Amino acid sequence: MERTTKHDDGAGRLLGLIPHGLYLVGVDAGRERFLYTVSWLTQASFEPRLIVTAVRRDHRGHRLIREVGAFAVSFLAQDQLELAEHGFRGGGDRLDGLHWHSCPVTGAPVAEDTLGYLGCRVRRWIDGGDHDLVLAEVVAGEIFREGALLTVAMTPWRYGG
Ligand SMILES: Cc1cc2nc3c(=O)[nH]c(=O)nc-3n(C[C@H](O)[C@H](O)[C@H](O)COP(=O)(O)O)c2cc1C
Repeated sequence: MERTTKHDDGAGRLLGLIPHGLYLVGVDAGRERFLYTVSWLTQASFEPRLIVTAVRRDHRGHRLIREVGAFAVSFLAQDQLELAEHGFRGGGDRLDGLHWHSCPVTGAPVAEDTLGYLGCRVRRWIDGGDHDLVLAEVVAGEIFREGALLTVAMTPWRYGG
């Protein structure tokens, strides 16, 4: 599995303790679309409603979100470990075989069997290191079902450190 943790010193271990949920970010650039698992995401403003997420520079999501300026965040339920894994291990077109539809506002792919989704439009990119930060406005959102969010701590994986 890819290297997702650097828990080798005090700072790394503390960073690994920061609680994170798990989400699927979907992006559709017409000829190409992508879906990937995300944990580094948080709300960043009430009014307007902004979120910030860190996007690894070396995957397709980075290039595609830059290109279209919009994405959707599907919230994974606690029984959706397999779907979370699909979002970082699945090859080819990760939307194949999934139940999904396009967010009516942003056009970005939304995974239907999840708790719900946010449709987001990029406001600003902030250069980072191996991840860049994207500040985005929440322009749509819908709950599909009640339930609790899957968190990284509930999984065998770690991302942080
Ligand atoms: C637990 C976990 C959390 C992750 N969180 C993020 C994240 O916040 N941001 C990100 O860009 N990638 C994150 N990733 C990595 C992406 O899901 C992965 O790089 C992406 O699916 C690209 O896959 P590829 O390398 O097969 O193209 C995470 C991976 C795992 C296992």
